[in-house]
This record gives sequence, C-alpha cells and structure tokens, in this order.
Amino acid sequence: MEKVKLIATTNFGLEAVTKRELQDLGYEDLKVTDGKIEIEAGLSDIPVLNLRLRTAERVLILVDEFRAETFEELFEKVYDIDWINYLREDDNFIIEGRSVKSKLFSISDCQRITEKAIIEKLKTKYKVSWFEKSGARVRIEVSLLKDIAQITIDTSGDGLHKRGYREINYKAPLSETIAASLVKLSFWNKDRILADPFCGSGTISIEAAMIGKNIAPGLMRKFDFEKFSFIDENYFKEEKKKCYSEIDYNIKLNIFASDISHKAIDIAKKNSEILGLEEDISFFQKDIRDLDLPNDYGVLIANPPYGERIGKEDVDELNRELGKLYKYLDTWSFYVISANEKFEKSFAKKADRNRKLYNGRLKSYYYQYFGPNPYKK
Ligand SMILES: C[S@@+](CC[C@H](N)C(=O)[O-])C[C@H]1O[C@@H](n2cnc3c(N)ncnc32)[C@H](O)[C@@H]1O
Repeated sequence: MEKVKLIATTNFGLEAVTKRELQDLGYEDLKVTDGKIEIEAGLSDIPVLNLRLRTAERVLILVDEFRAETFEELFEKVYDIDWINYLREDDNFIIEGRSVKSKLFSISDCQRITEKAIIEKLKTKYKVSWFEKSGARVRIEVSLLKDIAQITIDTSGDGLHKRGYREINYKAPLSETIAASLVKLSFWNKDRILADPFCGSGTISIEAAMIGKNIAPGLMRKFDFEKFSFIDENYFKEEKKKCYSEIDYNIKLNIFASDISHKAIDIAKKNSEILGLEEDISFFQKDIRDLDLPNDYGVLIANPPYGERIGKEDVDELNRELGKLYKYLDTWSFYVISANEKFEKSFAKKADRNRKLYNGRLKSYYYQYFGPNPYKK
C-alpha cells in the first residue's frame, strides 16, 4: 500500500494556488477539480503535505472511487475495500457524508450503510461483535457527486488552517489558509516591505512572516495520521526534522501590521510571539487615515471591514481612504480582499486583476493593483 492517491482540499477559487504550491514541492501528477487536487503519491508524502501546504484545507487519502446508485452497490463496494489495512480493532472510526446531485441523496443513510459495510468487513478479521472505538480517531468520508462515490480517510484531523499560533482572535479573523493564499498571490517576497493595515489578529502578517522565514505551517500542531497504524512514524519524525532545518532564522523581515484597535494589536502581538516573530513584524495602533509608510516599492495586503459591524457608508469611506493611499504610495502594489462588489468604485480605480474566491461561505474578491517592478528601478 505504499502508493496512494491523495486529495488536497482547498477553498473554492484557490485551487490554482494550492496546485502551484504542490508543483513547487515537486509533485507533478495533479488533477484539479472544484475544491480538490488529486495527487499520485506515497504514504511518506502524507506528513510532507500536512506539514508544508500553506493554502490547502485538508489532506485526504482517496481509498476508493466507484459508481453507486443503490444502497446495495454502496454496501458491496465499501465492503470490498481492504479495511484491515487501515483500521485496528479499537480505532475510533467516524463516518461523515455528503451527497450532491446523486440518487443516494440521504446523507445519514449513506453514512449508516458505509459504517455497516466497514464493520462487517472488520468482523472477518477481528473476532468481536462490537467495536469499542476507544482508540485513535479515523475520519472516513463517503462523498457522492453525480452518483460517483469517493471514500476518503482524512489524514489531517483538524483543518490545516489550525496552525496552533492563533490562541486568541480579534473580531472577524481571516482563515490562515486564505491569508497565506493572499500572500502567495501577491508579488511580495522576503526582501520587500509588507503592510497589513487592518491586521486584526495578525493573520496576514504572521502567514507572510512564516513564508519569509520558511517556517512550515504545520510544525506546531498535531495531525490524525500520527496515530494511524499504516503510516510509519519515522516518516513524520524525519520530515519534521527537515522542516526545522530549513527555517531561515537569520532573515530580518520588514512587515508593518497596524489596526485602529489597541486590543487587536495586543492580540496580534501575542499570536506572533508564539512563533517568535516579534522581531519581524512591527505592530502599531493606527487609523488607516493616518498611516505613514515609506514610498519604497512595498506590498500592501488589506482585509478591511466589510460592513456587518460598521455601516456601509463607513466601509465605502475606508475604501476611499485606501484608494487615496494607493495614489500617494505610487511605487507600491495593493491587494485587497473584500466582499464588496462595488469596491473599485470607492477605491476609484479598476483593479489590474480580480479573483473571485470564497472566504468560508462569503463570496469575496481579491482586487489586485500592481505597482512598478522594484527590480527595474
Ligand atoms: C476584517 S477585520 C481584519 C481581520 C484580520 N485580517 C485578521 O485576520 O484577524 C478588519 C479590521 O479592521 C480594523 N479597522 C476598522 N476600521 C479601521 C480603520 N479606520 N483603520 C485601521 N483599522 C481599522 C478593525 O479593528 C478590524 O480588526
């Protein structure tokens, strides 16, 4: 079972970013569909992907894929899988389900049938009539799309956005995987200034600092696969060691993180300290209207409030201020994530590029304004 098919799941609209990350890690055989990238890989790649992918949500093992239009078909195909390879007698396997445009639309029935088939198969090896499920958590999903069932095992456990550094949140924090995607989509690199003028809990700045110093995002957390019987624990140990050896401790980054709220700044600072990044990010309280930045080819990534808490007028006014700042900082590139379809009107300039993406369930846009190339000064 050394060879496996893995799936990296992503937020909708960010598949290409994760695909590029995978290619940068050396993976070539990739199949992209909505919110998913299939990877031909080996079991030893499971720790690699979980530790290193910044923009993916989870890493799943694609155990099997088949057509199922009746519960009998579903039962038989699930029973045919060699579950003994994956599950010990006491593993706490949990069945999750989803169904889209399929004849088997009752998710709870799909879950029940899948669980029954797995139990019946396990009984052929483990001579018990009842499985205690007192051991390691193994999340199995039966997912139907247009009558094609995918049976997957979730190797990540908690979503990969849970890095472990964001102990406290301020108001509407951005998911870590989305923040990392925004940085990856910008032309920021470790030699350029970065500004995060609505920093809230500090997510964009912290993700950028981790990218700049080459800190793998999964180093501080646990994964479900660590307890899987079929994954050699040395794979994880070795990859973790490798990740630590690749951290660039000596690099000094130039990141400015500000927010109007003192409380947000305190929280963001504390979050950054968990990773030892306090030297790389300057946190300060500042209203965007008073922000003073050196006009030196920086990159500004903004996640302004989008109006649920402050009124629409105020949101438009803040976006107008951002537009003024862009005019003034004429060597900078600006990137703004906003759920506001009229953002460009208040900003007073059409974006050079605009990407639709989903921030959780919220349809958002990533407005991109490219400044001059700093390397052709
Ligand atoms: C959507 S949240 C940003 C969340 C942040 N990206 C994070 O991951 O936590 C918007 C932030 O804008 C800040 N804010 C609101 N008005 C502001 C202003 N005039 N100047 C600077 N920051 C402001 C709020 O305090 C809030 O933290």
